[in-house]
Amino acid sequence: MALITLDGVTKTYPVPGRGQRGRTVVAVDDASLEIAEGSVTAIIGYSGAGKSTLVRLVNALEPATSGRIVVDGREITALRERQLRAARRDIGMIFQQFNLLESKTVFKNVEFPLRIAGVPKAERVRRVTELLEFVGLSDRAKNYPEQLSGGQKQRVGIARALATSPRILLADEATSALDPETTEEVLAVLRRVNRDLGVTILIITHEMDVVRALADHVVVMENGVIVEQGPVYETFSNPQSEVTKRFLHTLVRQVPGDGEFDELRSRHPGRLLSARVLETNDVQSRIEQAVARRPDAIIELVYGGVSTVRGRGFGYLLYEVTGPDQAVDQVFAELVGDDIDEVR
Ligand SMILES: Nc1ncnc2c1ncn2[C@@H]1O[C@H](COP(=O)(O)OP(=O)(O)OP(=O)(O)O)[C@@H](O)[C@H]1O
Ligand SMILES: [Mg+2]
Repeated sequence: MALITLDGVTKTYPVPGRGQRGRTVVAVDDASLEIAEGSVTAIIGYSGAGKSTLVRLVNALEPATSGRIVVDGREITALRERQLRAARRDIGMIFQQFNLLESKTVFKNVEFPLRIAGVPKAERVRRVTELLEFVGLSDRAKNYPEQLSGGQKQRVGIARALATSPRILLADEATSALDPETTEEVLAVLRRVNRDLGVTILIITHEMDVVRALADHVVVMENGVIVEQGPVYETFSNPQSEVTKRFLHTLVRQVPGDGEFDELRSRHPGRLLSARVLETNDVQSRIEQAVARRPDAIIELVYGGVSTVRGRGFGYLLYEVTGPDQAVDQVFAELVGDDIDEVR
């Protein structure tokens, strides 16, 4: 069963500023989504797409304008403030800027939500000690945030978010302020949060490597609308929307961009074949066999790249075919079909 369900959720804001009275901006537009317990879902999309708003709605930090949100069997769109506070305790959150209390030690930062929840002292100490050990910061308990690196600060953020043992962790650009190496350190902790603690994670990111390293599902947003969603491998290896394709471009060299294509064309004026490489298809061996059958045709790889998602390969390859017309025709006749097209 889904742990989080969004059913036709819309969120509009009044446009701020003078002379804007009555005008609204649709931040999330009729979004429907189901998130399975124990999954890691990445939300991607360009700035202003509505990602943070969507996550704030799940966290019940803001009310939806319309639609229904069910978290862990509770319809939060129908709850009153007091019940909402209880629901929020089931959801932890981490942020790009860490949002730690600078005047408090690491220990006190992690302890803070437990104090608010009225947990007795001895139990608080036990829990904070356990959490700091989990994120590998036992020796930093007495440090202040300013004495920590970015990655360490985010690990404190994770420990704090987990203090009340939530079943859901929301991360809004949690690694965007970190360099690649530190990002990997934080991702490793998040992976353990998911696998060892069974916490369901919803992570907003613009880094495709984060999606690839952590997520099993991906949700793509544009202008408030969820334009695409599904398992990461299936979505990336067969993208439907333009936004997804553009994001993918940073992961694999998919198709040449406009300028690139003209330049490629001037160097490779012959007929072009594009092949979609999937784990489950055999395009590369099909091409090799066609080459072997027509030794007078020359098939040259001119563009493309192959990548992996969760250990499964996918990519795009562009070939130029040259040689006697008859040989070239035959190669095309043989190859064009499943996952192989002629590019004109
Ligand atoms: N409190 C608010 N009041 C008015 N408009 C808002 C508010 N919060 C968000 N918006 C608007 O809603 C839209 C979606 O914003 P949101 O912050 O959810 O996007 P985002 O995808 O998280 O962007 P980014 O990648 O820049 O963080 C934007 O047009 C934004 O200006
Ligand atoms: Mg945002």
